Amino acid sequence: MFSKSTSALIILLLVITDAFRTARAVISNDRHRQQQISNNAANILAYEMGVKNLLDTPREHYRPITDCMFVTSESGPFTYVSRSDDEVVCGIYFLTDPDRTVEIHFHSFDVPCDHRGLLAVIDGWEMDGEIFPSEADHSLPIKDRVNEFCGKSRWYRKTFTSSQNAAVLQYRIPMRNKGFVISARYPKNSRPCNILSVSTTDPFTLRNYGRRINCTLMAMYPGAVQVIALGVGGSSSQSVVHTTETGTLHKCDTKNPRDQLEIGGSRGLDTMKLDVIDSICGIDSKPDIKEFVPYEVTSVRLISSGYYDNSATIIINPIVSDDLLDPASAF
Ligand SMILES: *[C@@H]1O[C@H](CO)[C@@H](O)[C@H](O)[C@H]1NC(C)=O
Repeated sequence: MFSKSTSALIILLLVITDAFRTARAVISNDRHRQQQISNNAANILAYEMGVKNLLDTPREHYRPITDCMFVTSESGPFTYVSRSDDEVVCGIYFLTDPDRTVEIHFHSFDVPCDHRGLLAVIDGWEMDGEIFPSEADHSLPIKDRVNEFCGKSRWYRKTFTSSQNAAVLQYRIPMRNKGFVISARYPKNSRPCNILSVSTTDPFTLRNYGRRINCTLMAMYPGAVQVIALGVGGSSSQSVVHTTETGTLHKCDTKNPRDQLEIGGSRGLDTMKLDVIDSICGIDSKPDIKEFVPYEVTSVRLISSGYYDNSATIIINPIVSDDLLDPASAF
């Protein structure tokens, strides 16, 4: 589903995100161990689902999860089996195309609550306690976006669907040989609003479809933001349509309604803590806008009152500094 640049980005994401996090990935290339893990997973499956269902998907097609921070755009099925009694929190980070959402299916799970076991499905991306999209930019309150549960499920299928192209399954399973089996699907999103960037080279278009809504394109790296097409606050979503080129206007927040495109950065994922570097509006089919955002996280936020049909097409290239990409200095 992803282009080559996306795989490169996922590596970039891993490097950057690992540098931020204290949790280190548990990486194992030991084949024997992996085999043992898939056997254990198969045992959980056999116990949970019966042999008949197990035959539907050959055992070797189940991907064992061995990295504590596991980023994927694939469908799985994935299995995780705890190898220790440690209370470590790990996560599966699902990231797909901007115009898709993430659907996570639980086939079975055995996560003992009385051993502090916990599963949490997050509608968004989590980093250091902050969630993208921010609460103010999401249609659902946080309590409806974080689904926590534990226990054991035999036949019951649990499904979660995200509102944007990113979702996370966090888990803490401090009991050997307990775990879960899941798979993912990536259905189309007809009106994407918040987007976690998956490409360092492809343009993205933020659009409000005439709605009163704020939408953010976020990249988890210091970015050079280029706006390659701009239509914000100009053409009405009502019957009268103005298509005059106004050029790129600054200081748009003095106007009413205050439809605008904010370009800024932050240390974490919370766009409420965004330092706005520039704020623009207008109709400009060839804007000459390039802003450097020397922050850990780069965001472009489209603020829409609902009186206009807004759109902005953006590329966020990484500002690459040697020490950020040198793994030796990352830890
Ligand atoms: C969008 O953001 C602006 C400025 O941050 C805020 O005033 C407004 O209430 C937000 N609109 C919605 C629909 O959340």
